[in-house]
Amino acid sequence: MRFLKSMVGRKVVMAVSGLVMLLFVIAHLLGNTTIFAGSDSLNSYAEKLHDLALLIWTYRPIMIAAVFLHVFFGIQLTAENYKAKPDSYAIRKSLNSTFAGRSMIWTGVLLGVFIIYHLLQFTFQVTDPAISADRNFDVFGRPDVFHMVVRTFRRSAVALVYIGSMIALAFHLSHGIQSFIQTLGLNNEKTLPFFQKYGTLVAVIISAGFISIPVVILAGILKG
Ligand code: HEM
Repeated sequence: MRFLKSMVGRKVVMAVSGLVMLLFVIAHLLGNTTIFAGSDSLNSYAEKLHDLALLIWTYRPIMIAAVFLHVFFGIQLTAENYKAKPDSYAIRKSLNSTFAGRSMIWTGVLLGVFIIYHLLQFTFQVTDPAISADRNFDVFGRPDVFHMVVRTFRRSAVALVYIGSMIALAFHLSHGIQSFIQTLGLNNEKTLPFFQKYGTLVAVIISAGFISIPVVILAGILKG
């Protein structure tokens, strides 16, 4: 396909697939915050989500396609950028001069590894079968997702892996949001500082939201 061979076409695919994942991450964070209201709240949320089979099996193929396209074109564009001459376009130059911009491929790889580990831990629940929510149930007979998460993050090594990964997520998102705006053609000399500031703010809020979960568990504020 010609569209996918052009630089603009591939950047549009990166932007759209990135947006699909960003929307998932925001929804996932909002769902995860039910943990602060206690075990009943998180377990009931998880149970309701699992009952929505149509929703789950609609978004999962979309997410898998988004991840595949994002990784494929991300690696391809990075490889081409390495080979290409330095870009003279001022805005792109300024975006790529930040640490977040230069480290996109590495924060991306880190997040890829994190997601595989995370799925094995909480979706397939194979990393510690003894605390698996598919084997342990709460007083209402629901899978005990709350205790699985709390017991997981009581281990400081695991909590630290999550905190480190969420910091990588903050860097990846902060540059990703700005690249998205750039691809939409909304960046110019005047708007660039605005989008840089608010893109970073959104990334930090999302990352801090996720980090707060292992932190309150490690600190003993949230007990299971
Ligand atoms: C403290 C942080 C996080 C916690 C406590 C958490 C918790 C969970 C739990 C409990 C599940 C299993 C849900 C279920 O099947 O009932 C899950 C699934 C998942 N999480 Fe997370 N998560 C966190 C961060 C993240 C982040 C940052 C990402 C992405 C960058 C992510 C991506 C996913 C994905 C893709 C799934 C699979 C969804 C599905 O089954 O369709 N999670 N998470």
